[in-house]
Amino acid sequence: MFSMSREAFGPEFVFGTATASYQIEGGQTDGRGTCIWDTFSATPGNVKGGETGKIACDHYNRWPEDLELIQRGGFNGYRFSFAWPRLIPEGTGAINQPGIDFYDRLIDGMLERGIQPFATLYHWDLPSTLQDRGGWMNRDIANWFADYAVLIQQKFGDRLKAIATINEPWCVAFLSHYLGVHAPGYRDIRAAARAMHHVLFAHGTAIKALRAEGASNLGIVLNLQKCEPASQSDEDKAASHLFDGVFNRWYLDGVFRGIYPQDVLDLLKPHMPKGFEADMGVVSAPLDWVGINYYSRSLLAHDPENPSFPVKSVDGPLEKTDIGWEIYPQGLEDLLVRVAREYTSGPIYVTENGMAEVDEVEDSRRVDYYDAHLKALLKAKEQGANMRGYFAWSLLDNYEWAEGYSKRFGLVRVDYETQKRTPKASYRAFQGMLHNG
Ligand code: FCB
Repeated sequence: MFSMSREAFGPEFVFGTATASYQIEGGQTDGRGTCIWDTFSATPGNVKGGETGKIACDHYNRWPEDLELIQRGGFNGYRFSFAWPRLIPEGTGAINQPGIDFYDRLIDGMLERGIQPFATLYHWDLPSTLQDRGGWMNRDIANWFADYAVLIQQKFGDRLKAIATINEPWCVAFLSHYLGVHAPGYRDIRAAARAMHHVLFAHGTAIKALRAEGASNLGIVLNLQKCEPASQSDEDKAASHLFDGVFNRWYLDGVFRGIYPQDVLDLLKPHMPKGFEADMGVVSAPLDWVGINYYSRSLLAHDPENPSFPVKSVDGPLEKTDIGWEIYPQGLEDLLVRVAREYTSGPIYVTENGMAEVDEVEDSRRVDYYDAHLKALLKAKEQGANMRGYFAWSLLDNYEWAEGYSKRFGLVRVDYETQKRTPKASYRAFQGMLHNG
């Protein structure tokens, strides 16, 4: 049971669940092209147990059951992502009709069940052929992405409630090109600097192209992390500030102010694409809403051994989830208030929030996690943040990227042998609040 009622959020507030194509769909048939996660996961050492998204939750075939779970939970929104290689197998050019048909059925299925479709265009499954051409390191990706966005608007735009361009540009750029944790697994500062700019340039280019097609209710989904210094030393405070710059301010300042933070630029300038300054008007194309994904905080310390990025994360003292992230609801309140005060008076959605827990159906710790974070959201709303919705990550246990299937985030348990879905206590807590008001 949650401690608040649905009324506390206001009648227009959307409650939804979130998923992503590669993490749940499987269905690598019917003409879907390969993506960077297919090959990254097939390369030993990248993903725990060498697990892949080949079958995942078999959502490609089981989507009616999954939509019913959303509906029965009392949710009126569903944040899902389109798989680019399912729609355009080579990334550009020929369209795969069975892919169009799949999303047609899925979106119509949502509407028939009173669920508003919140679409994400890119949640990390880049077509491999585009990676061959440099992926996010190649400026041309802005046009590849905009063409793909226009296809989606033309085929599905009439039925989508909202469109987000990119999910978590920090992960697309830094985690995947500097830290090497996610596909394509680069560890190269020049690759990272290029991806950090091109991901936002592609976002803005797609926003403009979508508007030209008459699309409305457009946004981006940023993952923000509360950054705190590991000690009160000036060096650790500087490390925390710099991490905040790379993680949060790069994307917030870029999208809302059309500038990159100077402290981060001081590090990256030699590696940035020439003439990037001229793109900043496109990067900051006006948006209708912003989505914030929030999970935890980072404790940062100065790292003298890394001159290119002198920051390291240190282990924090708070209670942790099964993926090792500290539970810190205050961070959500602080970040939402910060975004509202410093960046936008426009609509804000929490587009992801949730926790990994050991494999159990009576997940009372997860119920407490959600309750505490929903309270934090309400507190931010009282302080003026224009909160419009909340999406729990995730509907189902699913493929947790480099962690494979070992980490479970679902409101609904998935038995990967049988594909049986079993609602957990956290699902019932939402159901109780959403059905009873
Ligand atoms: C976010 C991702 C999402 C999921 C959660 C746990 O960074 O957007 O796909 O993996 O973390």
